[in-house]
Amino acid sequence: MKIVIVKDYDEMSKAAAELAVSLVQDKPHAVLSFATGSTPLGMYAKLASHHKMGLDFSGIKAFHLDEYIGLSPDDPMSYSYYLDENVFTPLEIPKEHIFVHNSDPEQVEQHAREYDRKIEAEGGIDLQVLGIGENGHIAFLEPADRLPLETGLVELTKDTIEVNSRFFEDEELVPHYAMSLGVRTIFRARKIILLANGVRKHDAIRTLLDNKHLDPRIPASCLQLHADCTLIVDEAAYTGQE
Ligand code: F6R
Repeated sequence: MKIVIVKDYDEMSKAAAELAVSLVQDKPHAVLSFATGSTPLGMYAKLASHHKMGLDFSGIKAFHLDEYIGLSPDDPMSYSYYLDENVFTPLEIPKEHIFVHNSDPEQVEQHAREYDRKIEAEGGIDLQVLGIGENGHIAFLEPADRLPLETGLVELTKDTIEVNSRFFEDEELVPHYAMSLGVRTIFRARKIILLANGVRKHDAIRTLLDNKHLDPRIPASCLQLHADCTLIVDEAAYTGQE
């Protein structure tokens, strides 16, 4: 894993956006898969500025990394809503190029089977954007004894429910289940960027970088094996100092 340490959030967002921009310039029909959360918002805003300055995203294919089960796409807490607001609409990605998770609990199994196939049919993911959870999760792959290889239904840990409750009016409203890309699906991405900023992420980053094992209790540890994964981390997350 390549490690790029940058001064602050803005530098992290800029470095991440530049990687995505150069990919799209080289490959206008690239397949990208997007994380949500607070970390990549700056990167997405910078991509929107590049688009305003003329970079065309209309050829790219866009996949969701994960989604809560049971929230409809027009629920402002859903990841569909987030990605529409922050990525798909600002970058003017055509609707037919957007592949979303189906959050209907009744259709979970069929959706999971089809989603990995759709990614393959589009030629595989060229760039996967990831954040890291305070507990070391990537996507919604939570620390566990075993990690799922394929995309499917996952149960969120108490930690993640608590951390993510900051986006909801009440912790009671945070869904307990989600759809997440599996380890193999993420791993097959040709390029991965893992973003981390702020002291809040220091423990996760330290644990990831100090760890010498492939440890399903630190789901991000599998990224150490990827041939083209760049961790872009700001000084606060790297050093633990504000
Ligand atoms: C979100 C996702 C999560 C987040 C992680 C960090 O789609 O997959 O793994 O990347 O929980 O969240 P933030 O960026 O809000 O700290």
